[in-house]
Amino acid sequence: TETGCLSIIVLGASGDLAKKKTFPALFNLYQQGFLQLNDVHIFGYSRTQLCDDELRERIKGYLPVENKVSSNVFNFLQLIKYVSGAYDSPEGFQELDKAISEHETSKKSHEGSSRRLFYLALPPSVYPQVCKMIKIFCTNKSGLSGWTRVVFEKPFGKDLASAEELSAQIGELFDEPQIYRIDHYLGKELVQNLLVLRFANRFFLPLWNRDNISNVQIVFREDFGTEGRGGYFDQYGIIRDIIQNHLLQIFCLVAMEKPVSTKPEHIRDEKVKVLQSVNPIRDEDVVLGQYRGYKDDPTVPDDSVTPTFATVVLHIHNERWEGVPFILKAGKALNSRKAEIRVQFKDVPGDIFKSSKQGRNEFVIRLQPSEAMYMKLTVKQPGLEMTAAQSELDLSYRQRYQEVVIPEAYERLILDTIKGDQQHFVRRDELKAAWEIFTPLLHRIDEGDLQPQGYEPGSRGPAEADELLEKAGYVQTHGYIWIPPTL
Ligand code: BG6
Repeated sequence: TETGCLSIIVLGASGDLAKKKTFPALFNLYQQGFLQLNDVHIFGYSRTQLCDDELRERIKGYLPVENKVSSNVFNFLQLIKYVSGAYDSPEGFQELDKAISEHETSKKSHEGSSRRLFYLALPPSVYPQVCKMIKIFCTNKSGLSGWTRVVFEKPFGKDLASAEELSAQIGELFDEPQIYRIDHYLGKELVQNLLVLRFANRFFLPLWNRDNISNVQIVFREDFGTEGRGGYFDQYGIIRDIIQNHLLQIFCLVAMEKPVSTKPEHIRDEKVKVLQSVNPIRDEDVVLGQYRGYKDDPTVPDDSVTPTFATVVLHIHNERWEGVPFILKAGKALNSRKAEIRVQFKDVPGDIFKSSKQGRNEFVIRLQPSEAMYMKLTVKQPGLEMTAAQSELDLSYRQRYQEVVIPEAYERLILDTIKGDQQHFVRRDELKAAWEIFTPLLHRIDEGDLQPQGYEPGSRGPAEADELLEKAGYVQTHGYIWIPPTL
């Protein structure tokens, strides 16, 4: 591990994302001692005129401090300094550079290192100009060894052309190893587990293919609407907000081939390949929805046709997956909040138990809430009778790993940016391949060729989506519900 001077610069420091995610994640890292290994300073930059203490006060309210040491809060906040300025202002960024350099060259600082991590908690429209400012005014010119890295939040473009343009603009200023495109789903425990699960278990190796698997669902549901984010959301819609990034990343990890090694580039190579093997999306593979009441938000236009729900079935053209539908489904204002991967196996051939009535084998990975993996399998109904019934092998994390606190996604990912590990970040060619899949569909939606169906808030979404699921071959098990164990 590197030691020495580390500067973390949060641009957009007074905004929502910084307050809710970035600073709390930094605080958690601080609490666990990760930042103390370094001589760390944190800088906040945004347009709002604030003094250091005003920013600290704003951040304080969002820090997760239950059962934790309050002196840590104070010490953490003291690390934070604030500089205000515009996002295209040379003066602002010169001042920022001065503040960073002061601490890099202070006596306390370890000699000979300047590591600068810029975190852009900003709207993408300002990415190019901010990157330019960072490059011109804030990359270390003192000859000290170290690095400059830049962390970007989504949305990274709106379609293939805009994403490529953005990539090109940023690519002129920074090299790919300096660029960290965050997809926070890649920081979730069970998403990170997929690689191990798939490639370290003999159980799965022979089964994970078209011979045995009937269909795969990757599902994201939220039980609330776009509350307060209607203006942003309406520009993007659920496909750009959730499916093109979060669900597609999960899709890659479920469907890709085994990488040569666990090196980040080897893993990302495989992700790109499977994305490139996805067939063009046909209209009949899509159901869109918009919940009733979405347009009541004053920041949403009255005639908006932006989907808040979508089911999209992807088909992969390769030897492993030909003919297996991958059903990506995401929706807001539904009847529950959860994210899961559901791998459904084919029926048992020559079944003598009529077990298909009990339902098929399924392997479910629940990302949230209550992380778990469970395998639905058919067993003899315990007791005197000789009937088959559906049961499960259940690995519920809260029960199995009682001592472990599962880290927040952002906490892990920020730590990776400090360590320089790009495995859980989206590479430029991966981003391009992801946009290539969805851009034609998105353009058709934007042009009004595909219309969303209305659905009631708090429902399962449009009925057409369940029909599509059935058409894709998914067989629902009736009368079986998995209940997470309680401690
Ligand atoms: C964000 C989306 O990327 O992810 C939001 O923009 C969504 O619309 C959020 O609510 C969900 O993240 P999580 O971690 O709460 O599932």
